[in-house]
Amino acid sequence: MNQASSARILFLGDILGKPGRALVLSQLPVIRERFSLDLVLANGENSASDKGSGITAAIAQELHTAGISAITLGNHAWGQKEFIGEIDAVPFVCRPANFSASAPGASWVELPFCGKRLGIACLLGHEFMKIPIDCSPFRAAGELLERHPEIDAWIFDFHAETTAEKMAMGWHLNGRALAVVGTHTHVQTNDARVLDGGTAYITDLGMCGPYRSIIGHKIEARLPSLLQNVPPRAEVANEDVQLRGCLIEVDPTSLKTRSAQAFRWPLPE
Ligand SMILES: [Fe+2]
Ligand SMILES: [Fe+2]
Repeated sequence: MNQASSARILFLGDILGKPGRALVLSQLPVIRERFSLDLVLANGENSASDKGSGITAAIAQELHTAGISAITLGNHAWGQKEFIGEIDAVPFVCRPANFSASAPGASWVELPFCGKRLGIACLLGHEFMKIPIDCSPFRAAGELLERHPEIDAWIFDFHAETTAEKMAMGWHLNGRALAVVGTHTHVQTNDARVLDGGTAYITDLGMCGPYRSIIGHKIEARLPSLLQNVPPRAEVANEDVQLRGCLIEVDPTSLKTRSAQAFRWPLPE
């Protein structure tokens, strides 16, 4: 493989609260240089977790200014109620494509990449998701591909709970998408690979946030809910903050995927 002629995309998993944002903002210039990145994408649905969940336009803008070209969301898209009225002002953010067609915000984002047209979209899974969706994520993915033949390549963030549903989406889009990356569980899976049709795939990117935690929340705020049957408190933790994602290398001419590997920062020893 000719490393020099590869284009490199980093997709970061759910950025969690202020600790996650702060580490992304401080480390992105270093990471971009170190890995010669051409494009950075991220799931931002928990980036305002200090306030509960969701994202705000101000946070989205801050992440975008720092170099994240497109931001995907998930079940917590409207965690900050004011964002319902703000999302149209941040067109580099997309809410799940299988929300209602009349939902606010973009259902996908187009980016220029290697002289071609790249589409970025997120889809919300069916299984164990407590919020209503308008249609199957599988159907929504197919419709995006059919309706936009002008787009040269697609990257999908599949925001879903179960590994089987995510893997099914990988195979559904195998050979039709540049990449399918899972988000939502906040735990990185050890299965990054290129499927036989050329689609980069990982079941879950993991979280950009505090790892001395229970999926980003303080252990002492979440554990009692399981031990004592009291409601959980969602307090953002702040220790052992790390970044997780997937690094995807593509041929810049054909946009064929060359490799996909789990990304961790700081680098594992
Ligand atoms: Fe999340
Ligand atoms: Fe989620």
